[in-house]
Amino acid sequence: MDKTKILFVCLGNICRSPSAEAVMKGIIEKEGVSGDFEIDSAGTAAWHAGEPADPRMQVHARKRGYNLTSISRPVDPDVDFDKFDYIIAMDTQNMRDLKKLVKNNSHLEKLHMMTDFAKEYDYSSVPDPYYGGDEGFELVLDLLEDACQGLLESVANEQKVK
Ligand code: 4NP
Repeated sequence: MDKTKILFVCLGNICRSPSAEAVMKGIIEKEGVSGDFEIDSAGTAAWHAGEPADPRMQVHARKRGYNLTSISRPVDPDVDFDKFDYIIAMDTQNMRDLKKLVKNNSHLEKLHMMTDFAKEYDYSSVPDPYYGGDEGFELVLDLLEDACQGLLESVANEQKVK
């Protein structure tokens, strides 16, 4: 079976999407299915390209056992929409920006909102924590832990009906 390839996308690729990448990798590792997936993250903006995750996000993530190792990069519309099976936006502005980059309907069908996979939390976006305080970073991780669990279940269900 081909690997399921998932790309998480936020604005800067230094707070929310690298955290989503680490949380998802943690969940699939715990479930023993790491080999079935390829997980990556990217930003709609290139402002922080080449930088590691925001140190504040790293501190909060580490407290829950996640090591944020990814380096920021912008979405590559020439590669990412063909390569990945799921392209998952953190907020509605990310989704609008991604929709501007797609070239066809099959690309469009790969776009999802992170919060649509949540089971416990009822949010329409993962709020941008960049200009806020500690509680914003904790909320990002709460939402991602919930939604990544839901995403794994959704992918598993999808594969059953194929
Ligand atoms: P992210 O957060 O999209 O979750 O990585 C942000 C990172 C940087 C900026 C805004 C949001 N910025 O304005 O530089």
